[in-house]
Amino acid sequence: MPHHLEVGSRLVVASHNPGKAWEIQQLIAPYGLEAISAATLKLAEPEETETTFAGNARLKAVAAARASGMPALADDSGLQVEVLSGAPGIYSARWAGPRKDFSVAMQRVADEVSMRGGWERAGPRANFISVLCLAWPDGDNEVFEGKVFGHLVWPPRGGNGFGYDPMFRPDDAEQTFGEMQPEDKYAVSHRTRAFAAFKAKCLAGLSRRKTQPSRDEALAGLQAAAANLSTQSELAVFVAKLAADAAAHPDADESVAPMLRRIVAWLNSNELDGETSWRLVAKALLEATKRS
Ligand code: IMP
Repeated sequence: MPHHLEVGSRLVVASHNPGKAWEIQQLIAPYGLEAISAATLKLAEPEETETTFAGNARLKAVAAARASGMPALADDSGLQVEVLSGAPGIYSARWAGPRKDFSVAMQRVADEVSMRGGWERAGPRANFISVLCLAWPDGDNEVFEGKVFGHLVWPPRGGNGFGYDPMFRPDDAEQTFGEMQPEDKYAVSHRTRAFAAFKAKCLAGLSRRKTQPSRDEALAGLQAAAANLSTQSELAVFVAKLAADAAAHPDADESVAPMLRRIVAWLNSNELDGETSWRLVAKALLEATKRS
């Protein structure tokens, strides 16, 4: 099997986090690579048993490549806070608990920083880190790392992005990642930097084409946002995005009644008891905007 990617190559995005899978898809789509998510292929999500970001990225990419017979790209990422000796680190996702509620995770970071007196002056130093691993079905693999440095802020600000974005302000910026427009975050983000290293090595020969996001891609972005938001202000931003999407894709014969009926049908056919409350509202509203 040749170990190089070419235009039209199918690449498995080995992440079950919809926010991250969507960001990685955005990064590779302009190079003519077809991204298929691990969730779409119903691949099992391996347990992250390694002690480093690189180890976990490799474990996920190799498992997805072996199971699918296609090259696979996995990312392991997280937040590292200097005063917490690098925590939450590889446990960044786990600090959000079983309901993946990042308001809980951000509160825990804030509390642990308080216990160490770390909220003085500009806020504690922190960085996001992303390690990408490209793996092939025979197990061959390569890793690429990117970091973005900045400070933590409290309380969190902004409803864009996902995870710890609202409490991280990168160096030389006034806004947190949660307040920035997505393109401003991508311009400096740890994932973009890891991707730049991946691109230099693996995509150097592929020309970049400009793409307009399709309706499906726009919907995938909204679905990612609905699955990740945790707070009331994130819900407000999400509803504004729904409104912008509806204005961009007007539907001549749409009234409130069929939208409400879609919400009722969705509520009646899904087990939603464990769902984080703001996320539940977002998902119901998203369901209302789906047209057959
Ligand atoms: P994992 O890589 O799936 O183990 O999880 C990484 C976790 O780190 C995510 O669930 C987020 O909590 C956090 N994280 C990684 N990248 C970002 C980012 O760009 N913004 C905010 N949080 C992030």
